[in-house]
Amino acid sequence: MDTRATTRDETRADFVVIGAGIAGLTAALSAAHAGLRVVVLNKGPHWRADRSEQATSTFYAQGGIAVVEPDNPEDSVDLHLSDTLAAGAGLTDPQTTRPILADGWSAVAGLIEWGAEFDRGPDGRMLRTREGGHSVRRILHAGGDATGAQVQRALNDQLRETADRLPIECHDESIATAILRADGQTAGVAYRTRGRDRVVYAPTVLLATGGAGHLYAATTNPAGATADGIALALRAGAVVTDLEFIQFHPTMLYVPGARGRRTLVSEAVRGEGGRLVDVDGRSVTAGVHPMGDLAPRDVVANAVEAAIATTAHPCVYLDVRGITDFVTRFPTVTAGVTAARLDIADGLIPVVPGAHYLCGGVLTDVDGRTAVPGLLAAGEVARTGLHGANRLASNSLLEGLVMGRRTAAVAVGRRGRTVADVTLPDPVSVPVMERKVLQDMMSGSVALRREADGLAAVATTLQAATVRPPATEETLEDAALTMTARVVVAAAAARTESRGCHTRIDHPETESVARSRCFGWLDDGPVELGGTEALGVRSEALAFAHHTA
Ligand code: SIN
Repeated sequence: MDTRATTRDETRADFVVIGAGIAGLTAALSAAHAGLRVVVLNKGPHWRADRSEQATSTFYAQGGIAVVEPDNPEDSVDLHLSDTLAAGAGLTDPQTTRPILADGWSAVAGLIEWGAEFDRGPDGRMLRTREGGHSVRRILHAGGDATGAQVQRALNDQLRETADRLPIECHDESIATAILRADGQTAGVAYRTRGRDRVVYAPTVLLATGGAGHLYAATTNPAGATADGIALALRAGAVVTDLEFIQFHPTMLYVPGARGRRTLVSEAVRGEGGRLVDVDGRSVTAGVHPMGDLAPRDVVANAVEAAIATTAHPCVYLDVRGITDFVTRFPTVTAGVTAARLDIADGLIPVVPGAHYLCGGVLTDVDGRTAVPGLLAAGEVARTGLHGANRLASNSLLEGLVMGRRTAAVAVGRRGRTVADVTLPDPVSVPVMERKVLQDMMSGSVALRREADGLAAVATTLQAATVRPPATEETLEDAALTMTARVVVAAAAARTESRGCHTRIDHPETESVARSRCFGWLDDGPVELGGTEALGVRSEALAFAHHTA
């Protein structure tokens, strides 16, 4: 369908939020409570809880929210920080991570006030589970393994219930096409709603667009996870960091030949006693790491790949026969297994590693500010420094919640700034690679294990992508995937070591000094900008942003 616009509508707001998952809706609600006029651009359809496919990754989160309860004598923010640093393999930034983790409990309390209900025991206390890399049980969950669905429902219910009081306009089926800038400042967003081009002017814009799972043929992410925010940010002159760290979840349901969104089998299954075994029944993680099946995610995913290679069998199995209440504790996993026509009663669930989470993203400070004044980023699209080279399980919903509130506070501080006149950008032609070709290349050479020749071949093919106008929503997404893939490949090629979820077959060693790399986009390709040391990048990135304005 050709959706080229014929008419341009224009409106004004104090704050535009692109994305309607946990970070986006938390930011929108918090800012509107503080009196800001907010516009939310939601790429998906109007929210309905009963849809079989949902638009946000938030909805599909299973395990839960990792957070320290203040009165838990076994846990502390320091312990949570040390687990997060250990998982992050040298690239987690303690300066930003500590305040984000420390804000977790009040952010969760706010979500509960907005109606979220977490699973509780007979004594009324919230139940907590364990996942890979956590040294204690600190993960809150809802509906067993339907935590994300509960969070999404609570946020959308809050939006509906406050519709007559809060100044939030939500535009569904709306995809952002450009961040508008004037005098080096953010000035609004150009977007497209069902084929109609529109503009909303605002001094502050939040990217909360989620991840990039559809760079790969199979992923745990919903269909809309097409790296839109990364491409918008790069085109606006912002800087991205750590994009080579794409986390593969060790246990995505294995269905031969299946593409697109696949069922996640929560790490909490291992937290409750599930064991990973190969086709011959041998433990996959024995002797690999002291935490065994609950080692950090990169370690377990690599152990699964190794077991698949050794046995020449296409998957391993999650043995859940020891979990007596499996069906009631894990109803979402059970439904996914059953929908794939597998029998959960066998107690052996076939799994493989699957593209799951973008650990890097648009470089921000601890309040979500990017290198472009007025452009903020929160949630999976952002790189705050919390996830480093490998995200600790269930830290992402926490980050979305905390950073949603923090970015709203920044928007409140920017209220009233005048937006200079903007010349709307002419529609441009962009490099677009056919999605299936791109996904197959990325799955073949830029997945869990990489090496120089494979990366170079993918880089060459991506560079030769056809340039065309992004006339349809699908082409806009494909253009974002193509641009993001180029930076992912450049970052993976530049990192000649193995660290966290980036494994180089030709460079198995880990360098003694951990260093993040920043990239921007200049003319028609990625450009490396150096590291983030001592916040120097913020000024360097700002100079870059001004240069490209
Ligand atoms: C899971 O339930 O295993 C996913 C949790 C996460 O990705 O943080």
